[in-house]
Amino acid sequence: MAAEVLASAALLLGLYVLFYYNFLKGAKCKNETSLRGKTVLLTGGNSGIGKTTGLELARRGARVILACRNKVAGETAVYDIRRETGNNEVLFMSLDLASLNSVRAFADAFLRSEPRLDILINNAGVLYGGISKDGFNLAFQVNHLGHFLLTHLLLDRLKRCAPSRVVVVASNAHRSGKIDFQNIYKPVEEHLPSFQSYCNSKLANILYARELANRLEGTNVTCYVLHPGVVNSGLFRNLPIWLKPLLWLTAWLFFIDVTDGAQTSVYCATQEGIEMFSGRYFADCRVREPKSHARDDAVARKLWEVSEKLLGLDA
Ligand SMILES: NC(=O)c1ccc[n+]([C@@H]2O[C@H](COP(=O)([O-])OP(=O)(O)OC[C@H]3O[C@@H](n4cnc5c(N)ncnc54)[C@H](OP(=O)(O)O)[C@@H]3O)[C@@H](O)[C@H]2O)c1
Ligand SMILES: *[C@@H]1O[C@H](CO)[C@@H](O)[C@H](O)[C@H]1NC(C)=O
Ligand SMILES: *[C@@H]1O[C@H](CO)[C@@H](O)[C@H](O)[C@H]1NC(C)=O
Repeated sequence: MAAEVLASAALLLGLYVLFYYNFLKGAKCKNETSLRGKTVLLTGGNSGIGKTTGLELARRGARVILACRNKVAGETAVYDIRRETGNNEVLFMSLDLASLNSVRAFADAFLRSEPRLDILINNAGVLYGGISKDGFNLAFQVNHLGHFLLTHLLLDRLKRCAPSRVVVVASNAHRSGKIDFQNIYKPVEEHLPSFQSYCNSKLANILYARELANRLEGTNVTCYVLHPGVVNSGLFRNLPIWLKPLLWLTAWLFFIDVTDGAQTSVYCATQEGIEMFSGRYFADCRVREPKSHARDDAVARKLWEVSEKLLGLDA
């Protein structure tokens, strides 16, 4: 009897391991293209997927600027990445996407101190609710609007350094997203509406990349948007306390780690020959189709115009 129980347990474990590696773990970006001489700007590089993305790109020889809102966390990440890769061209710069003034000040400082920009990775994101310093929905501003302004301010530098790239970290959560132009920018507090705002902002990320790629046609600046996988990062830190044990168990069983979670970002940032897929959605290091509402060109264009208006760029 005991032997049977043990055998069944071993079989289950074996099946789980097979399942994990075949369906969950995700593809590795095998390309080791050298990035020597190239400058990467990465938002939210102090933790999670961003930090491992920065590490992988520093390993390939890039100059990597981590744009983070917290100086201590940012400088700790710089220290870790330098130590692990031996690349000393890893730097911290201060950027708070929840403040449009901070985005403008950052872009100013960046353009003055850095001659190049080859790869911009819009990675930072929040899952919780709240209000930005400019009065907008926090997830909408950090995940979409702040990055919209940042990219806008750095676009000429990207064009001058072409061929160059913009990589946008979105999410499969876009499937539950909605673009309601009347409400998308309004702050929310409760858990459920906050999660809905997150999904909306990730849908906005995909539509944004689509429209940006259109506008960049002929410039040799290309743009890719991706789902990193379901990753055991700090993203879920603000979940209600009663959900924590469940999250912990689910994460332990099914989530991939932050190194695997960085692979599609690294792929989109470095893989040569994907330029014809500018504007497209990637997961597991290959092109995927997002849900149809993320492929609506009319909504993508309107989102662009609404974003410009909210930022006062339409004058
Ligand atoms: N984890 C997943 O399963 C998953 C799935 C799909 C998509 N994603 C996407 O992956 C990206 C990275 O998330 P993650 O999973 O690595 O989560 P994370 O560990 O929470 O990292 C998010 C990063 O964004 C930064 N950030 C937050 N608010 C900011 C602000 N106002 N200004 C500047 N930086 C700010 C955070 O800085 P602090 O440390 O200071 O908070 C942190 O470095 C996000 O865009 C997320 O939507 C994640
Ligand atoms: C990496 O990309 C280069 C340039 O496209 C290609 O020649 C090389 O075979 C790729 N390496 C791998 C391991 O995919
Ligand atoms: C884009 O790249 C191609 C191939 O390198 C080059 O011929 C062309 O002049 C470039 N266009 C711009 C606008 O830089």
